[in-house]
Amino acid sequence: MSTTIDVSVRAEAIGSDPMAVVEEISGWLSTPAEEVDREFACELDRLRIAVSVMNSDAAAGDRRAHYCQQLLLARIYQLTMQIPEQPTAEGSVVVHEVMRLLEAATLAAEDDRIEPGILDQAPAQPKAYLSWLKGTARAHRVFKHPYYQDFIKDHATVDDLRNYVMQESVVDGRFDDLLAMMQVGTSGGAKMEIATNFWDEMGNGNQAEVHTHLFNKIFEVFEITSAELEAGLSANALLSGNLAVLLSRYRTFYAEAVGFLGMTEWLVPDRFVQVVKAWERLGLPDVGIVYHRLHITVDAQHAAGWFHNVVIPAASSPAMRRGMMRGALWRLNSSCRYLDERMPTTDR
Ligand SMILES: [Fe+2]
Ligand SMILES: [Fe+2]
Repeated sequence: MSTTIDVSVRAEAIGSDPMAVVEEISGWLSTPAEEVDREFACELDRLRIAVSVMNSDAAAGDRRAHYCQQLLLARIYQLTMQIPEQPTAEGSVVVHEVMRLLEAATLAAEDDRIEPGILDQAPAQPKAYLSWLKGTARAHRVFKHPYYQDFIKDHATVDDLRNYVMQESVVDGRFDDLLAMMQVGTSGGAKMEIATNFWDEMGNGNQAEVHTHLFNKIFEVFEITSAELEAGLSANALLSGNLAVLLSRYRTFYAEAVGFLGMTEWLVPDRFVQVVKAWERLGLPDVGIVYHRLHITVDAQHAAGWFHNVVIPAASSPAMRRGMMRGALWRLNSSCRYLDERMPTTDR
């Protein structure tokens, strides 16, 4: 994101601390949308500047600004991802403006990390395209990342695993809802594939085997509360969750969502083999590892079905080829940064 903010304007931005911006806007999220718009519409200019300062600082490498940017976006997304117990600002025009600024900066940062020209190299023939996409992923540092292949498998402690599942909750903990959002507007074989995948997420009709339910069992093993969960998420974990929501909810990013979620499924089996090894090495209760064991096989099937029934048929379109690869690269690059950050020797 290359937003340039004039220094004198910066000085007037609310609170030079980006967390002050996050807290101010977060404070509105439990207020009815009409009220927020009535009271804060006149403050939009000030807000635009404050959020743009945060975005440009994040783009310049300020880690606190990046954390605040992703935390605020995650909190705004909660408005559309949860059934509320009280009124919320869902639908507020003011909150929407803030969200759009955060989304644009988030996407620009991911695009900046894509190697120039790579999207133009995609083969036009659908099967060759899929091989190229998979080959690019196999050559990526994230594919056999040492975080899983070494750290999780051989060294992670109970506390490390506890922290690990917290970070993973933003994607695994709501994968069914991501699928439900991204399937809107699809048809034919793609819709059937997404529906089949979704039905697996629903435990094929058995409530006790719903995947998010199985995932939440891990939280019982580790006694993780929801308050602890949000506070414990790193900037890059928040980003992973935000990207998944962003791509799944906008129809215009359907191609990117196909690439992003397909890559997510494809990377799972090998990663979860290492998590299961760690779980067994540490002698943790079996109830907490059912989710990971299951996904070693089920996500291999999901990835194969996704590639065959969603990616290949869509790959006859140049725009889809480009979008799917863009989404796949967003997943590979963001996952790699997230895993790099989780490595014990890396300065966090
Ligand atoms: Fe699943
Ligand atoms: Fe899956």
